[in-house]
Amino acid sequence: MIDIKNVTYSYSGMNALNNISMHIEKGESIALMGPNGSGKSTLLKLMNGIISPDSGTYSFNGEEVTRKKLQNANFSKLFHQKIGFVFQNPDTQLFCADVYDEIAFGPRQMGMNETDVKNRVNDCLDLLSIQGFEHRPPYHLSGGERHKVAIACVLALNPDVLVLDEPMNGLDPRTQRWLVQFLMNLNKAGKTLISSTHNLEMIQEISNRAILFDESHSIVADTETEKLLEDIELLKKVNLVDEYYHRHEGDGHHHFHEHPF
Ligand SMILES: Nc1ncnc2c1ncn2[C@@H]1O[C@H](COP(=O)(O)OP(=O)(O)O)[C@@H](O)[C@H]1O
Ligand SMILES: [Mg+2]
Repeated sequence: MIDIKNVTYSYSGMNALNNISMHIEKGESIALMGPNGSGKSTLLKLMNGIISPDSGTYSFNGEEVTRKKLQNANFSKLFHQKIGFVFQNPDTQLFCADVYDEIAFGPRQMGMNETDVKNRVNDCLDLLSIQGFEHRPPYHLSGGERHKVAIACVLALNPDVLVLDEPMNGLDPRTQRWLVQFLMNLNKAGKTLISSTHNLEMIQEISNRAILFDESHSIVADTETEKLLEDIELLKKVNLVDEYYHRHEGDGHHHFHEHPF
């Protein structure tokens, strides 16, 4: 479904992706891991066509995605219908006067009629358990609620692939737990999930494969999430955990401590 070959990307001379290659199949659930600045968000932006590689190729469903093709309205529309991006900060994504218009925006862009738009918006409100929010302005909502609205907006187009940048960031524990369950259900329903994180918490619940970046913007591991979490030396080496890090294991539960206590 997604094929990335030898991709390099720099921001005005500053390298952010260093010869990145990966292949992602439909229905997978992937975690992009790595310390701050390792290139996770940059790769997610590239997957969503916000930026294009300086060298190397990015193909989606067997077709190369290029800057030129993305400038074509028809290609761009179809592409954005298949892959949806939930930004790290929902405020970057929300700009309408109320939640209804926000969720309706994508379907309207796709040319859906208002009756279908209404059904789609209601389905999304139900799915995210935010019924009754239709007429509230997004900026009056809590962080967790805005996050749900941002996810609803992306799901309103019913994409095959859902890309989430640091989805657990800034959420309280109960909302995090809800999101984990929600993402697991989406994956079970056949959606391909790609999330980035610099946090090890819940990572094995929302992904079965982990791709690890290091501080030189290269991939240093691509393996089962469970296996990667066992490789403490590697996690230390890439600066994802420190020397105090350890895991407790017991009846299938893991607790992470990133600081001494
Ligand atoms: N808009 C930008 N302009 C210039 N440099 C950027 C920009 N965004 C990210 N970078 C740089 O690119 C590198 C990768 O960043 P990013 O992809 O955001 O990493 P991560 O998401 O893993 O924290 C970092 O060195 C960062 O400073
Ligand atoms: Mg990031």
